Amino acid sequence: MDKNKIAETKIPPIRNGTVIDHITNGQSLNVLKILGVNESNIDSVISIGMHVPSSKGNGWKDVIKVEDRELDPNTVDKIALIAPEASISIIRDYYVAEKFKVKLEDRLIGLARCSNPNCITNKGEPVDPEFIVEEHHPPKLRCVYCDRILTNISDNLL
Ligand SMILES: Nc1ncnc2c1ncn2[C@@H]1O[C@H](COP(=O)(O)OP(=O)(O)OP(=O)(O)O)[C@@H](O)[C@H]1O
Ligand SMILES: [Mg+2]
Ligand SMILES: [Zn+2]
Repeated sequence: MDKNKIAETKIPPIRNGTVIDHITNGQSLNVLKILGVNESNIDSVISIGMHVPSSKGNGWKDVIKVEDRELDPNTVDKIALIAPEASISIIRDYYVAEKFKVKLEDRLIGLARCSNPNCITNKGEPVDPEFIVEEHHPPKLRCVYCDRILTNISDNLL
């Protein structure tokens, strides 16, 4: 077994659920936040690998394996914002039943709030925040309404 496979076997296999692999090193806690995981609502096994060796990227990644859960498209879009290289594998009966890479669209509506407090989207008006994705790796988002670049993406996810 190569060194990456050995590192991954430290995380127990799951029968059914979702593997979020190739998460940008250090971003797994933000992915957990996107998944809405907190101390009072965990009802199935969640295994987290942080700083796991990877043959891709800079050599390190995070991995999350969630039992008995599949992700909705909105959740996958948010993961793309903080971990643009992540892959999602749906596990059924121990096998990879489906696998895809997250994808950042060119225009995002309603996924994050603008970091400019004076933006029209933060004034209680019925306007959904909307961003143009100017760069994908790492994501650079420009607000359609006030032209500001979104700072601190993970703190501004909706
Ligand atoms: N039963 C399982 N339980 C937990 N994790 C699993 C299970 N089956 C596969 N995985 C994980 O799902 C992901 C996708 O599986 P796959 O076999 O495609 O991996 P891979 O060949 O390492 O691909 P990649 O190039 O994406 O790293 C990997 O992270 C793998 O460890
Ligand atoms: Mg792999
Ligand atoms: Zn704005």
